[in-house]
Amino acid sequence: MEMMKATVFLGTNEIRVKEVELPRVGVGEALIRITLTTICGTDLHILRGEYPVRPGLIIGHEPVGVIEELGDGLTGYAIGDRVLVGAITPCGQCHACLSGNHSQCGHGAGYEALGGWRFGNTINGAQAEYLLVPNAQANLAKIPDELSDQQVVLLADIASTGFGGAESGKIKIGDSVAVFAQGPIGLCATAGAKLMGAGLIIGIDGDASRLEMAKRMGADIVLDYREVDVLAEVRKLTGGGADVSIEALGTQQTFENALRSLRPGGTLSSLGVYSGKIQMPYDAFAAGLGDHRIVTTLCPGGKERMRRLMEVVRHRRVDLTPLLTHTFSLDLITDAYKLFGERADGVIKVAIKP
Ligand SMILES: NC(=O)c1ccc[n+]([C@@H]2O[C@H](COP(=O)([O-])OP(=O)(O)OC[C@H]3O[C@@H](n4cnc5c(N)ncnc54)[C@H](O)[C@@H]3O)[C@@H](O)[C@H]2O)c1
Ligand SMILES: [Zn+2]
Ligand SMILES: [Zn+2]
Repeated sequence: MEMMKATVFLGTNEIRVKEVELPRVGVGEALIRITLTTICGTDLHILRGEYPVRPGLIIGHEPVGVIEELGDGLTGYAIGDRVLVGAITPCGQCHACLSGNHSQCGHGAGYEALGGWRFGNTINGAQAEYLLVPNAQANLAKIPDELSDQQVVLLADIASTGFGGAESGKIKIGDSVAVFAQGPIGLCATAGAKLMGAGLIIGIDGDASRLEMAKRMGADIVLDYREVDVLAEVRKLTGGGADVSIEALGTQQTFENALRSLRPGGTLSSLGVYSGKIQMPYDAFAAGLGDHRIVTTLCPGGKERMRRLMEVVRHRRVDLTPLLTHTFSLDLITDAYKLFGERADGVIKVAIKP
C-alpha cells in the first residue's frame, strides 16, 4: 500500500501530520501532487471545533500542484501539468452550476447550501502530499508557465472570495467603498474594490501592520476602529455614506457598522462567516425603506474562475505575494497553525510546502 503525509483533523484543538493511504483515482478524478498550499481562517474555525468536520478528515482547501494521475473521462490534461484548483469544486452539471451558482453546487442534482465547498469539509483536503480532485474536468486550471506557485496560491480562496465581495457589491467606477476588517479576506476585498474601479477606498481594522498592508492593497485611507469613530469618519469622507460597504469578519459589530456606513440605496456585501443571530436595527436601514441591498458571497470556484484570476495576476493588475508572510514545511504545519492562529509576528498568510 502506498502512503503519503497529510494533515489530519483528530478532534477539537488536535491536528497531526500522519501517514495515510495514497488515494486512487476514479472516473473523472485526478490525483495531484501538492507543491504549495496554505491555511485559511476557516481552518482555524475547524481546529477550534467552531465549524464541525468529521475526525479523520484531511483538512485544507487551497491547492497548487502537478498532475500525477488522471482518471478515465478527462480530456485536455497531461501528467505533469501544473494546476491551480479552487477551494470550491463545483460539478459543473447540476441545477446550481448550470444556473451560475457554482458555490451552492448540488453535485449532479439540485442546490445544496455551501455544497461546492468539499475539500477539507466533506472530502479530504489539500494540506497533504497528494490530493484527489473530484469533477476534475471542471476544476483543474492550468497555470501559465510565467506564474509561480506563490503568485497563484491565494487565488484558490481568499482572493476569489475578497474579489467576489467587491463583484457582488457591484462596485461602479468612482464608487466610495468601506471595507470592514483587513484580515486576508478584507485585504483581498480592498484589492478587489480597486480592480472594480472604486474611487475612494477606506480600509478599517485595529491592527497597525494590517492597516499598512491595506494601503499596499489599494486603500486610500485606513481607519483604526479602536482609535476613531469609524462611522462618523466614513460619513465625513464620503459626504454622507459609502456607496458600497464590505463586511469581512462575521460579527454583529462589523455587520452593523457596514450597514450604518452606507448611504441610502447603498449595498452591503457580506463575506464573513457568522454564528448565532445577526440583528438589524431598524434605524440602520431606514425601517426597511432605504433601498439598501444586502448580498452574501461564498468563494467562487471552478477552473474558469481560476483562469480569470490568474489572468489578473499575469497582467500585473494585482500582486498578492506580499500577503504570504511566512513559509513552513508540511512536517511543521502545526507550528504554522499556532503562529497563524495567534496572529503572531505580523503573519497574514503562511505558505506550506509539502
Ligand atoms: N465568504 C467566504 O467564502 C469566506 C471564505 C473564507 C473565509 N471567510 C470568512 O471571512 C472572515 C474573515 O477571514 P480572515 O481570514 O480575513 O479573518 P482574520 O481573523 O484573519 O482577520 C480578521 C480581521 O478583523 C479585524 N477586526 C477585529 N475586530 C474588528 C472590528 N470591530 N472592526 C474592524 N476590524 C476588526 C482583526 O484585527 C483582523 O485583522 C471569517 O469569518 C472567515 O471565516 C469567508
Ligand atoms: Zn478558506
Ligand atoms: Zn454542481
